[in-house]
Amino acid sequence: MQLKNDRYLRALLKQPVDRTPVWMMRQAGRYLPEYRATRAQAGDFMSLCKNPELACEVTLQPLRRYALDAAILFSDILTIPDAMGLGLYFGEGEGPKFQRPLRDFIDIANLPIPDPEQELRYVMDAVRTIRRELAGSVPLIGFSGSPWTLATYMVEGGSSKTFGTIKKMMFSEPEALHLLLDKLAKSVTLYLNAQIAAGAQSVMIFDTWGGVLTPRDYQEFSLGYMQQIVNGLTREADGRKVPVTLFTKNGGLWLESIANTGCDALGLDWTINISDAKARVGHKVALQGNMDPAILLGSPERIRQEVQMILDGFGQGSGHVFNLGHGITPDVDPERVSVFIDAVHSFSRTYHMSSDIRE
Ligand code: CP3
Repeated sequence: MQLKNDRYLRALLKQPVDRTPVWMMRQAGRYLPEYRATRAQAGDFMSLCKNPELACEVTLQPLRRYALDAAILFSDILTIPDAMGLGLYFGEGEGPKFQRPLRDFIDIANLPIPDPEQELRYVMDAVRTIRRELAGSVPLIGFSGSPWTLATYMVEGGSSKTFGTIKKMMFSEPEALHLLLDKLAKSVTLYLNAQIAAGAQSVMIFDTWGGVLTPRDYQEFSLGYMQQIVNGLTREADGRKVPVTLFTKNGGLWLESIANTGCDALGLDWTINISDAKARVGHKVALQGNMDPAILLGSPERIRQEVQMILDGFGQGSGHVFNLGHGITPDVDPERVSVFIDAVHSFSRTYHMSSDIRE
């Protein structure tokens, strides 16, 4: 089926667009009352993820409110460790936790590589359901966590501030950690390729915790495994390219090496000026980002000003997907999101005039 709005896919490939496409990390989430209602109906967060009809419903909720240029699969990066048998749960008002975190080499050696159409079939069913319901309106983004980021949760047993347990493993049993990262890279490759086969039209890898590593350890323990995934991904489906976006939070120092993996786009957090990022890697990749999500707590005027500054920072032409530098937080007023989306729509047209003329 022909896509009615393919700005997001075009911008990731630096093809001309009429305005800058926009979507938001965590666009389906707790800031929306209808999301909270559907989650209550499901019982809890993981039951929502495991119910394809309800996962589809919450995926579509933000698109009913706002003219977003992409939908993102509603799921979580921790579905893979859950499918590997670690027993994921979310306590009320707490972050993710594992019943059986990985302790040693034996635990890691025993980990299975999940078959996406078996243990993770609920995710593939959600992708198929969402594609059917989107009916070609906007593209669907599939995603996964990076091996390093998944490993932090699996070894720490949940969220961490210091990453002491996994760093201890990294510095005392590096071969155990490498075995884990290798299994995760294989699992993520199968998982993302299954999402693409099920209908995901682009994929994004979230490396939320790559930025806690030294530059050398980042190459060895995070980027190397994302490279392995990029090498193994299906890059074309249904006669169209399937763009790949890599996002390392706090990875601004390493944009050149990330761009060298052969991905199509880099996700940027807000700690870098998008103009600097463009000067460094804009000839190679598209850029996605990078407004501080906390700006959405500010006044409408301040939101509009920030949108204008980021558009100005990227400047003329395609290759920019507007987004936040990280997920939207539950305390944001949905009205402020309208201000943000409308500002991107109306202010961005002038940055694409020359490409209109070229076409
Ligand atoms: O962006 C979207 O709308 C798609 C859905 C999505 C979720 N998680 C839903 C979710 C995506 C893309 C993710 C990715 C994810 N999950 C990441 C990488 C991106 C990032 O935020 O850095 C990470 C690290 C996780 C792991 C995770 N899941 C954490 C740490 C938490 C708790 C923190 C929090 O925000 O509460 C979750 C839970 C989670 N995943 C929620 C949502 C909407 C909130 C849970 C709830 O509704 O109760």
